[in-house]
Amino acid sequence: MPLTLLDVNSSPFGEASVSRHLTHEFVDAWKLAHPDGKVIQRDLTATVVPPVSAAWIGAAYSPDVARTPEQRGLLALSDTLIAELQSADEYVFGVPMHNFSVPSVLKLWIDQIARVNKTFSYATGTPVGLLKGKKATVIVSSGGVYDKGTAMASFNFVEPYLRTVLGFLGVADTIFLTAGGASALNRGGDRQAFFQPHVASIRAQFQAA
Ligand SMILES: Cc1cc2nc3c(=O)[nH]c(=O)nc-3n(C[C@H](O)[C@H](O)[C@H](O)COP(=O)(O)O)c2cc1C
Repeated sequence: MPLTLLDVNSSPFGEASVSRHLTHEFVDAWKLAHPDGKVIQRDLTATVVPPVSAAWIGAAYSPDVARTPEQRGLLALSDTLIAELQSADEYVFGVPMHNFSVPSVLKLWIDQIARVNKTFSYATGTPVGLLKGKKATVIVSSGGVYDKGTAMASFNFVEPYLRTVLGFLGVADTIFLTAGGASALNRGGDRQAFFQPHVASIRAQFQAA
């Protein structure tokens, strides 16, 4: 059965984006490894994702059969985004660090896809993630360097946060690739030299497989 990859991007910078450049490289390498595979693109800067409201939360916690047409309408985007996660076998996320955390559009997406009895359950009393058997690669770009052992490592709320959220939803097989120090590009740094080691580690993921 051909595999499906879900490619989620959240940088506002289009073609100039570091994280988009690297997710693009990932998608190209993935397609080479899976010529029959299908790629679903979800650009969170091209999707209007509203913040959750009291009515949305009420709808999410209403039993499926009891929902009014209005409640179904409120959950329609969430249903679409969750269906993308369910239908994909693998995920790749392009995540620029914004103010030490994830871009707000990615947080809005997380609030839409973290849904009781859809992507997590407390039916047994303890949380159980319902996105089983999925693999995620998270590509984080940042102006500074936050890798383990560096002076700024404790300012990195992107990786611990996304690890927690993905783990909570059942996605345990998660790899983080970090492209720190991207601010050098704003000072005229060589883009190709900057990307080279990151592109190599993306390609290495597929050679190792
Ligand atoms: C709104 C905003 C907030 C940022 N916050 C941080 C930050 O907290 N730490 C950091 O190292 N870089 C920060 N940066 C720099 C970006 O993380 C860096 O430019 C990265 O390459 C952006 O990825 P992109 O090119 O895919 O958008 C910020 C950039 C923007 C636009």
